[in-house]
Amino acid sequence: PARALAAMAAQEPDSLAALNAVIRASEPLVPGATQAVLGEGPIGAGIAFVGEQPGDQEDLQGRPFVGPAGQLLSGALREAGIDRDRAYLTNAVKHFKFEARGKRRIHQKPTAGEVAHYRWWLERELAFVGPRLVVALGATAVLALTGRQVPITRARGPATFEGKPYGGLVTVHPSYLLRLPDAARPEAYADFVADLRQAAALVA
Ligand code: URA
Repeated sequence: PARALAAMAAQEPDSLAALNAVIRASEPLVPGATQAVLGEGPIGAGIAFVGEQPGDQEDLQGRPFVGPAGQLLSGALREAGIDRDRAYLTNAVKHFKFEARGKRRIHQKPTAGEVAHYRWWLERELAFVGPRLVVALGATAVLALTGRQVPITRARGPATFEGKPYGGLVTVHPSYLLRLPDAARPEAYADFVADLRQAAALVA
């Protein structure tokens, strides 16, 4: 991205809507991406979930977590007793990064520099929403929230994000569960739901 988001905002946005207008006007990471995928959910939500970046379906529909990983997340939230509509869902990176192979668009992991590019926005977004707990889904979210690269196996569980007004919890990304071999998935899914239950308990 040629210009940092911070430089695009002529003045500090004074609302989430003003902030969203900045991201909507920004360049995608790769040509051909459809649109910026903004966070979704009410201001004042108790829990915010931060994923990696929109996938193919999210890019087309313009909403976070509506593709296969999002559907898995929705089911797990339901099992954990978390109402998706009352939570705030967003991503560390707001544009789909992909490589075109024929008609398919293959997800590309964002670089640390690309994650840093969107941090300015993520911080302000979360400040406007004001959650009591932020759940990092996977390593890219942890990087975005802390500036550090940490393996999920080490970081998993309740976390303190230094200098932030909200509590933290680190868990795996739902896409990770989709990539597991069938035999390993039920247990990993149960662990994921247990993490989400813990998140619910932290804001109860
Ligand atoms: N994966 C993410 O990290 N975010 C989405 O919105 C969808 C899939």
